[in-house]
Amino acid sequence: MVPVELAGTVKALVLIGGFGTRLRPITYTVPKQLIPLAGKPLLYHVFDLIPRDVEEVVLATGYKAEVIDAYVRSHPTPWPVRTVAESEPLGTGGGMKNAGAGMSDPFYLLNSDVVTSGDLTELLALHRRRSGVGTMALAEVEDTRPYGVAALGTDDRIDAFVEKPEPKDAPSHWINAGFAVWAGSVLDRIPPGRAVSFEREVIPELLPLGMYAFRLHKYWEDAGTPERMLRSQQLLFGDGRGGPGGVPAGALGTGPVAAAPGVRAEGASFGPFVTLGEDVTVERGAHVENSILMAGTHVEKEAMVVSSLLGPKVRVRAGHRVSGQTLGEGVEA
Ligand code: GDD
Ligand code: MG
Repeated sequence: MVPVELAGTVKALVLIGGFGTRLRPITYTVPKQLIPLAGKPLLYHVFDLIPRDVEEVVLATGYKAEVIDAYVRSHPTPWPVRTVAESEPLGTGGGMKNAGAGMSDPFYLLNSDVVTSGDLTELLALHRRRSGVGTMALAEVEDTRPYGVAALGTDDRIDAFVEKPEPKDAPSHWINAGFAVWAGSVLDRIPPGRAVSFEREVIPELLPLGMYAFRLHKYWEDAGTPERMLRSQQLLFGDGRGGPGGVPAGALGTGPVAAAPGVRAEGASFGPFVTLGEDVTVERGAHVENSILMAGTHVEKEAMVVSSLLGPKVRVRAGHRVSGQTLGEGVEA
C-alpha cells in the first residue's frame, strides 16, 4: 500500500454552474457564488476549505461563466484555477464529466455554496483508510427535504442514498454536505453529452463499490437561500472568518461588520452580522443589522434594513423599513 504521505497530490473540482434560482432576483445579475457574505464572496469561503497543497482547482461553470472567470482571474488564489464552461446546463454529473478531463485519482468534489468548518485533509485521509470509491462529508440536520440523505451501516458505510426525499422516505438525518472525495474512475461512470444528476443517477450505482461517510460535528450550512445565506454569514463571523473593515468610522454599534473600501456611514448604526460592499452609503440615523448590502447600495437617513439581502445599487428611501427581503440590482424600496 502507498503510504499516505507519498500518495501524490490531488486536484479539486468545484461545481459552480447552477442558476441560483432561490436567490433571485439578485442572481439575475450576480452569480450566487459572487454574493459577498462576512466580507467576501461565497466562492472564496469555499476556496478557504481547499488545502493549499492541491495541484489545481477546476471550476465547472455554466450560468454567468464569464463573470466568475473574470473575478477569479483578478483575485489571487493559492493554487492554479482553470474554468471549464458548459454551453448548456449539464447538471451536477454532466458538469463533472464535462470538466473532468485530466482529473486526479482521487479528487475532491465541492459544491460552491457550502459553508463549514469541515477539514478536507481529514476527509482525504479517511478516504485513503477506507479504500472505497468515495467518501462523502455528511451533516446532521433537522429538515432533510432540501438535501440528499444517506442511510449508514457498519463502519459508516453508506448503504443507501436518496436525493431530496419526502420526510417519510428519508432514511436518516445525515445529509450530503456537498463535498466529498471520489476515485477518478467515477467520472467514467457518468454518461457523456447530456444533463446528468450525479446525486440521482450516479451515486446510487456507486454504492455497491463502497462509499463511506465523513461525519461533520461542527457547523455546516448550504448558503443557497436568503435565510441560509444570512445564517451562513453568522456562522462565518462567529468562527472568526469575517472579512476586514469593521464598523465604519463615525458609526455606532459593535458589529461584527465587514466593510469594503469606499463605505460611508457617519452617524448610522449597526447591529451584528453585516457585510457592506464597495461604496455603500448608510446615511445618518439609519440602522442596518443581519444583512448584506452589495456594492453601491444606498440607505437613506432614518431608514432601517434588517435580515435582508440587497443587491448592487439598491436604494432604500429615507425612513423606510426593509425586513426579511431580497432585492435585486437597482431596486428602489
Ligand atoms: N457545472 C454545473 N452545471 N454546476 C451545477 C449545475 C449544472 O448544470 N447545476 C447545479 N450546479 C452546481 C451549483 O452551482 C452548486 O454549487 C452545486 O452544483 C449544487 O447545486 P445546488 O443547486 O446548490 O444543489 P442543492 O443545494 O439543491 O443540492 C445539492 O447540495 C446539497 C448540499 O448543499 C446536492 O448535492 C444535495 O445532495 C446536497 O445535500
Ligand atoms: Mg446548494
